[in-house]
Amino acid sequence: MPARVRTAVIPAAGLGTRFLPATKAQPKEMLPVLDRPAIEYVVEEAAAAGIDDVLIVTSRGKHAIEDHFDHMPELEAELERKGKSEALERVVALAELARVHTVRQAEPRGLGHAVSMAADHVGDAPFAVLLPDDLMVDDAALLRGMLAAQAEHGGSVVALKRVAPEEISAYGCPRVEPVDESLVRIFEVVEKPEPEEAPSDLAVTGRYVLSPGIFDALANVTPGKGGEIQLTDALELLGKTEPVYGWVFTEGRHDVGTPLDHLRASIELALDRDDLGPELGAFLADVVRRRDLR
Ligand code: UTP
Repeated sequence: MPARVRTAVIPAAGLGTRFLPATKAQPKEMLPVLDRPAIEYVVEEAAAAGIDDVLIVTSRGKHAIEDHFDHMPELEAELERKGKSEALERVVALAELARVHTVRQAEPRGLGHAVSMAADHVGDAPFAVLLPDDLMVDDAALLRGMLAAQAEHGGSVVALKRVAPEEISAYGCPRVEPVDESLVRIFEVVEKPEPEEAPSDLAVTGRYVLSPGIFDALANVTPGKGGEIQLTDALELLGKTEPVYGWVFTEGRHDVGTPLDHLRASIELALDRDDLGPELGAFLADVVRRRDLR
């Protein structure tokens, strides 16, 4: 029986160039989605799936991430003194959400390279990788499904979202064969195919449960353009010696990696909230009417 997944790795050492200048002196992962930084949703997802050991891959200028998940005694004492018990509860809970560790990636040499920074911490066990550009609002259903599939079948499991044909050229797209209801076996991944050349309607998205074999694969892939080491190339290599599966899902993903996607996600998430949804909905309806957007 495969070892239990204990650690979630969250790569957060990128430059966030699609979000400049907001990300010049501030980590993209700390940009708020409503009232919480994006990375908080992701750490919460890991904890909800039963993973309380979190390793965040950071880089220069990303101290705010560590501080966010740490205790802040001055703030806690001040909130206590002022009787702001709800705010106090939230900041204390945040510091106790998971055991958060960090490791540095000295240069942004790609997602694959960022994941390879986790090798010492992870050791010889399967682990999860959660990209903070993708928020999953699904009570960790996707991640739990992937963990269960990995525990049953071994190997590695990649999250695959079923998308419309016109969307596929923005993603890695695998050639697959079905295993059971939600699980497929992946044979190769075509990067950003034209719709007519896409081998499936499935898009690789930012959740992975990986076998430790990925570290050897990462050490052996040739860097692609810009010297970047791609996680998909390493998965392709790993697939030659171990099974790589895909877990197919449709709902719950919000991309927050660009300003427009971030805005879309914020609106959808706010509409779902009792404290924000009704007023925002009325405001949006009014905007549509006033600007004749229909
Ligand atoms: P992205 O490509 O979305 O992030 O990588 P980026 O490179 O920061 O953003 P752009 O494309 O320039 O706008 C997905 C995740 O992988 C991390 C990023 O921080 C992001 O959370 N990443 C990427 C690293 O940790 N290291 C890297 O070298 C590259």
